Parts: sequence; C-alpha cells; structure tokens
Amino acid sequence: MLAFEYHNPTRYVFGEGEHRNIGSLLRAFTNRVLLHYGGGSIKRSGVYNTIARSLEEAGISYCELGGVKPNPSVDLVRTGIELCRAENIRFVLAVGGGSVIDSAKAIALGVPHSGDIWNLYTREEELKTPPLPVACVLTLPAAGSENSPNTVLTNEESTRKLGYGHPALRPVLSIVDPTLFLTLPPNQMANGAADMLCHVFERYFTNTQDTELSDALCEATMRTIMQQAVLLKDEPGNVKAWGQLALSGTIAHNNLLGVGREQSWACHALEHELSAVYDVPHGAGLAVIVPAYLEAMVPHNPGIFAQWATNVMGVSPNRNTAEVIREGLHRLRTWYRELGLPQNMQELGIPAEADFAGMARAACVLKGGKESPHLPGIYAVTPDECERIYRACIRV
Ligand code: NZQ
Ligand code: ZN
Repeated sequence: MLAFEYHNPTRYVFGEGEHRNIGSLLRAFTNRVLLHYGGGSIKRSGVYNTIARSLEEAGISYCELGGVKPNPSVDLVRTGIELCRAENIRFVLAVGGGSVIDSAKAIALGVPHSGDIWNLYTREEELKTPPLPVACVLTLPAAGSENSPNTVLTNEESTRKLGYGHPALRPVLSIVDPTLFLTLPPNQMANGAADMLCHVFERYFTNTQDTELSDALCEATMRTIMQQAVLLKDEPGNVKAWGQLALSGTIAHNNLLGVGREQSWACHALEHELSAVYDVPHGAGLAVIVPAYLEAMVPHNPGIFAQWATNVMGVSPNRNTAEVIREGLHRLRTWYRELGLPQNMQELGIPAEADFAGMARAACVLKGGKESPHLPGIYAVTPDECERIYRACIRV
C-alpha cells in the first residue's frame, strides 16, 4: 500500500424526503445562493418548487441559472460566473446530476479567479484563490460528483472535455434522497451504473501490493452496483435499491476505495475524447470502451483479473486462470447488454471512420504529456495501442 492522505469534509445527508430540508440544512452555510440546474427535469418532477419553497422558508435568497446540458459546457459556466459577480453571490447550490454539479463547481472556481475559467482546465493558468463553496441535491446517481473533488467540463469550440480537481471542490453539503431518482428513465440508470462501476475499475485494477482491505471494499462496491442495477431494471420504483445504488456511486468515487493504490483513469481518458467529439453520454461511452481496455490489460497482471472474476463476477476458481478471466469478462459484457447499454462504437453513434488515431493521441498527451504520451495503469498504453483499443470496439 502507498502512502496517502484522505480528507473528506462533505456533510452527507442521505434519506427519503431529505431534499425538502435543503433550506434549513443550508442555513448553517449561507443566506444567499446561485440555484443551478439542468434542462428541466427538476421542473417537470416538482423538485424545483419544493427546493424553492424550502429556501424561501429558511430565508435564503437566490438567483437561478438553469440550462446545464449533459457534458456541461464552459459557455454556460461563464454566464454563471458573471451572474454571481453581478449579484454578489458567494455560494452555489446545484440541483441535478453530475453535469449540473460539475458546472456548479466550475462557477465556484471561476467567480474569484481573475483569468478565464477554461484556462484552469487546460492548465494554462493556476488557481490562486479558493473556490466558492458548493452544495448539491443529487437527482441522478452516477458521476459521484456529490462527494468528489473534481469537475469535468466541455469546450465545444475546441472539442475538448477536461477535468479539474481541487480539495475544496468537495461539496460542503450533499443531499442524497433516493425518492428523487424515481423519475429517471432506464437508460440514465444504466449509464450511471456503468460509470460507477468504472470508477471502481480505475482504482481496483492496479499493480499495487498489500491492498487487501481496499480490494475487499472495492469488490463489495462492484457487486452492489451490479446487483442493484439489475434489480432496478425490473423494478424502477424500488426506492431501497435506488438508495443502495446511490450510496455505492458515492463511495465508488469519493476515493475511499482508491487510497494507497496506484490509479489508472485510462478508460476515462479514452471516453472523454469520445464525449468531447461526439457528445455521447459518459456512462454509455464507458460501457463500450471498458471491456476492450480490460482485455488489453489482462496479460500484464492476470492475477488481479482472476481475483476480480472470482470475487465479483462469481466465476468458480476451479479452472485455469485464462478461462476464469475470460468468463469474468464475458459476464461483464452480458451485464452491460442486460442493462441495454451500447456494445460497440456504431451503437454509440460513432462511425467506424472516426479519427481514432487523433483521439488516441489526444488522450495519451493529456495523461502522459507531449514528451511521453501514454495512458497510465497496470501497463503504460501508447497512442498506437490506444488506437487499437478504440478499433477493437468497432462492430465488424
Ligand atoms: O438536464 P436535466 O433536465 O436535469 O436532465 C438530466 C440529463 O438530461 C437527466 N436527469 C437528471 N436527473 C433526473 C433526470 N431526468 C429525470 N429525472 C431525474 N431525477 O439526466 C440526464 C443526464 O444528466 P447528467 O448530469 O449529464 O448525468 P450524469 O450524472 O451521468 O453526469 C455526467 C457528467 O459527469 C461527468 C461526466 O463526464 C459527464 O459530463 N463526470 C464527473 C465526475 C466528477 N465530477 O467527479 C466524474 C465522472 O467520471 C464523470 O466524468
Ligand atoms: Zn466517470
């Protein structure tokens, strides 16, 4: 196990109906917020009215900015930054999924920052001022942004999707109310489960030794995500299952499972290129990339894949290692299919003629730098190998 430091100050409030208490919970932090939300789901579900009433009853004034798109855009973030400055707002409340929370975090970074917000994501500028505090009411369990210190933003002009991390971006307050997930369509549940599962993969498939405890925590989280997602496919109204899935999604990405381990983030780097260029949903893109990436990694550490196949995918260990791993990966593909997730580039809406070489290089430069472009992980993947992984996802 590697040396690590872990600090997670989010006040995490979980329970049915808890979103109604947003006003009284927020009073400990502020009396004025930017209320930030997406394309309208919270208005259709009535959550918007409940939140607005709760804020008013608690004496919290607010300005609002809706319209966050999936794969949130830097353009709306710039609008939010200007609005907060003009209205003297120093606290951002996100009500939505990962995209809304990430957009809120970007606004929180940008308000005190003197330069352009996108330059933080490209690393052309450094953050010299702490971000504003962010709180959230989660409406879609998936990205884990409700307890992560990260934000991911898309610049449509340059077709780049980039992340930024800062310890102060963990929300100060997160409300996770499983009744809010009942309005989600099945594909969003599936996308979310695929994303959570991959957040554990990026941490679990590692060469780091002496990680028995975090291995076991990762394995329990992966099993729970897979079981609860299958249950929810048949019973979308099962609030208890939504609760278990949501808690798994938070734990999958608040880095408790990643402490003391080398981490990869290769699948995310590969997927973010697809989302940046083709605007595909993040979880759906991962469902296509992950099996091909894992297959390419197996020869470099078969032991961890055999452990996963046995402990997570339920494969009997009484066969040779190669067969155990093959069966584990087969069961993973079957799980994606059962949830209705895309199986290949074409089902994702990406043509076989896409510029996979360009996207492979961009992902590798982002992770390894121009001098040594590669994706880290069990094995350092070169741009050529990345391109082969992309091409392995094309239906022939
Ligand atoms: O915009 P509205 O109308 O709210 O509709 C949304 C959106 O269309 C809808 N939705 C959300 N809650 C709903 C609902 N529809 C009905 N009922 C509800 N209760 O769902 C759609 C997708 O929402 P979005 O927020 O985009 O999905 P998700 O939570 O999967 O977030 C994806 C984003 O998170 C980033 C991804 O890259 C992607 O941009 N990630 C952020 C991370 C982080 N900050 O730590 C880590 C992740 O790896 C990920 O990269
Ligand atoms: Zn993700």
